[in-house]
Amino acid sequence: MRQKLVAGNWKMHGSQQMVTSLLKELLSKQAPNARLLVFPPYLYLSQAAELLAGSPIGVGAQDCSQAEEGAYTGEVSAAMLADLGVSHVLLGHSERRQYHAETDSQVLEKAKRVLAANLIPVVCVGETLAEREAGATAEVVLQQLTAVLEGLSLDELKKVIVAYEPVWAIGTGLTATPEQAQEVHALLRSAVAKVNKELAATMLFLYGGSMKPDNAASLLEMPDIDGGLIGGASLDADQFLAIGKAAE
Ligand code: PGA
Repeated sequence: MRQKLVAGNWKMHGSQQMVTSLLKELLSKQAPNARLLVFPPYLYLSQAAELLAGSPIGVGAQDCSQAEEGAYTGEVSAAMLADLGVSHVLLGHSERRQYHAETDSQVLEKAKRVLAANLIPVVCVGETLAEREAGATAEVVLQQLTAVLEGLSLDELKKVIVAYEPVWAIGTGLTATPEQAQEVHALLRSAVAKVNKELAATMLFLYGGSMKPDNAASLLEMPDIDGGLIGGASLDADQFLAIGKAAE
């Protein structure tokens, strides 16, 4: 049985004051029976890690450098994130792919760095609206996933989490229907099964894209949806916890 995971991607939102008030609010309310994780901006990771120390809520980073260390101005390494007490790193989010031209091979290199630092990579895949309308959804998501499946060892893959985020559903209020999301999740899981059946049975596949309290339960009850990657709704403690509750 895969325990559901509900992760909040804060993107470039927040301030020191907001981080403290949102996390204190999350900690003060009844925790759901699902695992919770937040991805604050880099600058607030150590503040978040301190506030959440000893709590059941984990902290992740939204990206990391593909380099180990050195002359890479502005970059943050996986080892630095580990040093801060971060446990997960989001990789290949569609906003990174779109605005920073991140490629599948960069996502793979980053995943290797994350794993070498003993952190868990959360690899995002997803098709654009044009790709869905052209009937290319399966081809696009499988290509993104295959880059990671082929580049990592079985032991490394055991630590990987995959997030399916249709680009057309991110921040738009349009959500994939539970059936549309399930279809892609099942496809991704079957691609993993070709590598190793046991790996496919244990790997977590999160859905992301306008997941809200009112649509979370129907998505999360699908057999291959193991949790959510929540953007907008994770900035509101009540909404985030309500989605966590829907995952129980
Ligand atoms: P959204 O974002 O929930 O605001 O659509 C999801 C994401 O991009 O991770």
